[in-house]
Amino acid sequence: MSWRDFWNGEHKIYVNARHHRLHFDLIGRDICDLIKSPTTHMLDYGCGEAGAAQLIASKCERLYLFDTAPNVRAKLKQDFADHSKIQILDEPELSQLADHSLDLIVINSVVQYLSHGECGDALDLCKRKLKAEGRLIIGDVIPKDSGALGDITALFGFAITGGFFIAACLGLLATFFSDYRKLRSSIGLTRYREEEALVLLSKHGWSAERAPHNIGHNQTRMTFVAKSVGA
Ligand SMILES: C[S@@+](CC[C@H](N)C(=O)[O-])C[C@H]1O[C@@H](n2cnc3c(N)ncnc32)[C@H](O)[C@@H]1O
Repeated sequence: MSWRDFWNGEHKIYVNARHHRLHFDLIGRDICDLIKSPTTHMLDYGCGEAGAAQLIASKCERLYLFDTAPNVRAKLKQDFADHSKIQILDEPELSQLADHSLDLIVINSVVQYLSHGECGDALDLCKRKLKAEGRLIIGDVIPKDSGALGDITALFGFAITGGFFIAACLGLLATFFSDYRKLRSSIGLTRYREEEALVLLSKHGWSAERAPHNIGHNQTRMTFVAKSVGA
């Protein structure tokens, strides 16, 4: 099984409905803060279940949702079939999207599932699609020296304030026996030192800096704000 298979299948990454709602409420608010104008055309790359899409769409003119998992896209197409501002893209549609047409691209909690090569390809694609003055935001990047303990501590903190602590304990136990943990220890997650991420971005034509706040609940992880350099 690969990470792509994992995300295309059934999983219990959110410990209950409350965790799911609070997660998307939080990242929705964080992403809305990045939208500077109601005329924004934005892409959520690796959007997952996109539980904050309605909120985000209310702040911009057009919201494109892209995820490599076909089952995720099929569900999103059902959920947002009648939404005038939200469009779900598959891989050919994303590549055919007009070049330099987007103001903002957010890639949140995705690069840990990509090899360095795949991440480079995504950075090149984003460079093609973003307007010269547009911004690329890469959130929830896992630092090199961070282990599962940091994630568990952050989840418990979120669960205590969010009122789902017991569910988080049970969820953690379930995770121990899950494909997620098996993949995490076999394939692993791609981690970056801050400088390493900045060098990778620079190699792909981006000038970037680390944001003071990470998107979402886990402040041990990093968010980068990048602008395209040159052509
Ligand atoms: C942890 S979820 C993040 C979902 C959402 N961005 C969020 O912050 O809640 C990771 C998502 O990345 C998607 N993904 C994995 N590899 C991808 C790739 N190469 N391109 C686009 N999406 C990818 C998965 O299908 C999954 O939906």
